[in-house]
Amino acid sequence: MKIDVYFTPLGLNAGDLAGRGVVVIDVLRATSSIVTALSAGAKAVVPAATSEEAVRLTANLEKDGIVLAGERRMVKIEGFGLGNSPREMTPAAVAGKTVYLATTNGTPALVAAQGGDPVLVAAALNFTAAAERARAVFAERGDLVIMCAGREKQFALEDAYTAGRLVKAVKKGARKVTLNDAAQVSLDLAGQQGGWEDAFDASDAARQLIDVGLGDDVAYCAHPDRFTVVPVYADRRITA
Ligand code: MLT
Repeated sequence: MKIDVYFTPLGLNAGDLAGRGVVVIDVLRATSSIVTALSAGAKAVVPAATSEEAVRLTANLEKDGIVLAGERRMVKIEGFGLGNSPREMTPAAVAGKTVYLATTNGTPALVAAQGGDPVLVAAALNFTAAAERARAVFAERGDLVIMCAGREKQFALEDAYTAGRLVKAVKKGARKVTLNDAAQVSLDLAGQQGGWEDAFDASDAARQLIDVGLGDDVAYCAHPDRFTVVPVYADRRITA
C-alpha cells in the first residue's frame, strides 16, 4: 500500500495520476473557498487555470446562474463578482449558482489533478469527512496521491501540514504502508506543529493574507470540521 504526497503539481508527469485516487489541498485559500461555496448551496465550482479562462468559459452563459470568483495576489480580480475569500461564499452570494473560480495556485493544481479518479477536495474545514472518504479510497485501491497546491511553485507549510494530518488519518490501522519522502516529511511536520491554527499562522501565506487585510480568512480556514461536504472534481466540475 502506498501514499504519495506532492508538495506542488510541478513534480507530476503526464499519466502519473491516471486511475489513482487524488486529494487536492490548498487550504489558504482555494480549497477552503470551494468547500464553503458548496456547503452554502453552490451548484458546482468550475476551477479555471487562469482568470482569462474563467472569463472565456462563462462568455456565452446566462449571467443569472453563474458567479465569477478569483484572486490575483490574494485580491479580487477586477470585474469579478467575488474574490477568493471563503467568507464571501455565503448562501446569498452562491446558492444555486455555478462558481467559476480562478486562483493563483489552487485552481491550476485542480486542473492538473484531472487525470485522477476520484479527485477529492480537502481543507481543514471538511477535514474529518475528507479523511474518511480518502481512507475508503485508499482501503479499496491500496494507493493514494495527496497533491498540495503549494505557493508560487514552492513548498507551502499550511498545505504540507494538512497533507501530513491526512497521511496519518488515512494510514491508521493499515499495515505496510509505503510513503514517498514528501509523505514522510509531511507526517513528521504534522507531529511537530501545535495544531491547525499554529501551523497556518506560521506560514508565509498567512503573513501575506494579514498584510493585505485578510487575516480573518486565516482563522476561518484553520477551524476544522465546520462542514461535512467532500467535494469531488469530475468532468471539469466540482460538486458536493
Ligand atoms: C491560491 O490559489 O493561490 C490561493 O488560494 C491564494 C489565495 O489565498 O487567494
